[in-house]
Amino acid sequence: MKMSDLRTAIAVITGLFTAATAAAAEETVKVGMVMPLSGTLASAGKQVVAGARFYMRQHGDRVAGKKIELMIRDDTTVFDVGKRLIQDLVVNEKVDILAGGITGDLLSSAPLLTHTKKPTVIMLASTSSLIDKSPYFVRTSCTLAQSSVVIADWALQQGLAKLVTFVTDFSPGHEAEATFKARYIAAGGQILEQIRVPLQNPDFAPFLQRARDANPQAIFAFVPSTQAGGLLKQFVERGLDKSGIKLIGPGDITDDELLPNLGDAMLGTITAHFYSAAHPSSTNKSFVASFQQEQGLRPNFMVVSGYDGMHLIYEALRKTNGVTDGDTLLAAMRGLTWESPRGPISIDQRGDVVHNIYVRGVERVGNELYNVEFTTFESVPNPYFVAH
Ligand code: PHB
Repeated sequence: MKMSDLRTAIAVITGLFTAATAAAAEETVKVGMVMPLSGTLASAGKQVVAGARFYMRQHGDRVAGKKIELMIRDDTTVFDVGKRLIQDLVVNEKVDILAGGITGDLLSSAPLLTHTKKPTVIMLASTSSLIDKSPYFVRTSCTLAQSSVVIADWALQQGLAKLVTFVTDFSPGHEAEATFKARYIAAGGQILEQIRVPLQNPDFAPFLQRARDANPQAIFAFVPSTQAGGLLKQFVERGLDKSGIKLIGPGDITDDELLPNLGDAMLGTITAHFYSAAHPSSTNKSFVASFQQEQGLRPNFMVVSGYDGMHLIYEALRKTNGVTDGDTLLAAMRGLTWESPRGPISIDQRGDVVHNIYVRGVERVGNELYNVEFTTFESVPNPYFVAH
């Protein structure tokens, strides 16, 4: 072969290779997921990922002619690690969409995500104010304000007028405490004591003793669902279930993943939340049946947040014909509405989730405990109630 022919052949091959790489890059939508997969909040992150993957298995990994690629990273429940991983995914891996993650990671990453106009679907974090930290944030999880305000109303309707608040000492806990308190006090309730327990390795026993000593009618409790099993065990071991003190709170404390392993002491615990595996719609019944068949356990609210998060991404991509730039994708996401396993859901113009909040009681259904819904507060926005 002459030298000039060789050069031509190399140029052709290089050109083909570059074109193929560009086509592959164009064809793929990279979704970076930074979740707690180890550490204190590990099971929450794993459940969100399970929901997202389950959606993709049900609906395929292609949408609008593009292949969806999940890039999953473990923040180890350490906010600084989360921030670094998000930066790496956005700057080096050039993901098209980010799926988050815990409040701590997203708060510190908001300036970067705004600067890079990165569409960010919040599938776990539940602090109200987070949504306003970037115009590229959109949420399919929930806010603690939504559930806390509903349960405040319900408690007062039931004559529970004196109680203790009991929350984990991190931003979601502070929000549950503040929004519950504002609503409850405005409507005439009295808070005897506000107790905060550490996020890392909490020993609930001494804090529960303090709560009991205040002699309340009820304890309003929020701890991450990953720690709720420990709280409930201590509640029973210290005899609080027999003391007449009611346990109420956002649905994190009676998480569906925990209920099958809890005893009858939990019967009658009342919570407010956006999802129960016992939600009686046909959409939810078939969702629960297929998830249970595949995974061997019932889905919980974190699974549904991840599942709906992927639905939002798929539907928005369908609307934009695969275009992923931040402004186009966010415009496509705002205003979307669909029937989720949780019931009707929509994304408002701020990017936040609007959904029903159900008041539920723990009941035995067949052989297992479930959160059985008995009252519905329809289309609850965020914030549901602003304290003045
Ligand atoms: C949050 O980071 O907002 C968060 C984390 C764990 C939860 C709920 C909310 O269980």
